[in-house]
Amino acid sequence: MKPNKIEKTQFAIQSENHWKTISDSYYQSNYDACLDRKKWFANYIKDHYQFTTVLEVGFNEGTNLRMIHNVSPEVKICGIELHENAFHFAKSVLPEDSKLVLGNMYDLQDYFEENEVDLLFTMGVIIHVPPGMNQYLAEVFSYISKKYIIHIEDHDAGNDGAKISAQDLRWIHSYTKMYENINCKIRIGHDPVVDANGGANHLIEVILNKGE
Ligand SMILES: C[S@@+](CC[C@H](N)C(=O)[O-])C[C@H]1O[C@@H](n2cnc3c(N)ncnc32)[C@H](O)[C@@H]1O
Repeated sequence: MKPNKIEKTQFAIQSENHWKTISDSYYQSNYDACLDRKKWFANYIKDHYQFTTVLEVGFNEGTNLRMIHNVSPEVKICGIELHENAFHFAKSVLPEDSKLVLGNMYDLQDYFEENEVDLLFTMGVIIHVPPGMNQYLAEVFSYISKKYIIHIEDHDAGNDGAKISAQDLRWIHSYTKMYENINCKIRIGHDPVVDANGGANHLIEVILNKGE
C-alpha cells in the first residue's frame, strides 16, 4: 500500500531548509570529493546485485550516479534531490533518459511508483534525518524499491536517535530499528567501505522480501 505521509518534525523542516539554501560551493566541491568511495560503491553494487534501475535519494551534483553510469551504462538512472542548482548541474552531466526529480525525499511516493526501481540507495543523507522520520522513510523506500535498499551511512544500534552535531543537524540511527517493520533481511558492516568517513562509515544492505 502507498505509504501515507506523516507530519514533519521541526528538526526535519530545519534540516530541509539547511539543504535547500546551502551555498553552491557545497555541490561544486562535492563534485570530486570522496571519489574513491563513490567509485568503489558503483563497482560494489555492480558486482553484488542484479539491477536494471537505480535510484539515489539525495544525489546532490550526481557523482555517485555518474560513477554508476560509467561502470553500468545499461542501468536506468533515477534520483531525487532538494537543492535546485545541484539538481540542474546533475541533470547536465547525467544521461538524458535519466529520471531526475527536484523534490523532497519525504514525498518520494508522489514521483515514483510502487516497485519502480530495483535498487535504491543513500550516501550521507539519512544522517541528516531526525528521529521520528526514519521509520517512515523505510516504509517509503521499501514501497518504491523492488529488491534492494543500500545505505552508506552511520549505524549504531545502541545510540538510536542520538544527535551527533548541533550545528550540522546530524543524527545517528539504528538501521535494524529503522527496518524492524519491513519484511527484509538486513546486513550491516564497516569493513567493506572504502574511504569511509563521518556520515558514510557503514554499509547497510537491506534485501527486501517481496515474495517473488
Ligand atoms: C551530505 S550530502 C550527500 C550527497 C551525495 N549523496 C554524496 O554522497 O555525495 C546530502 C544530500 O542530501 C540532500 N537532501 C537533504 N535532505 C533532503 C531531502 N529532504 N530530500 C531530498 N534531498 C535531500 C542534500 O541536498 C544533499 O544533496
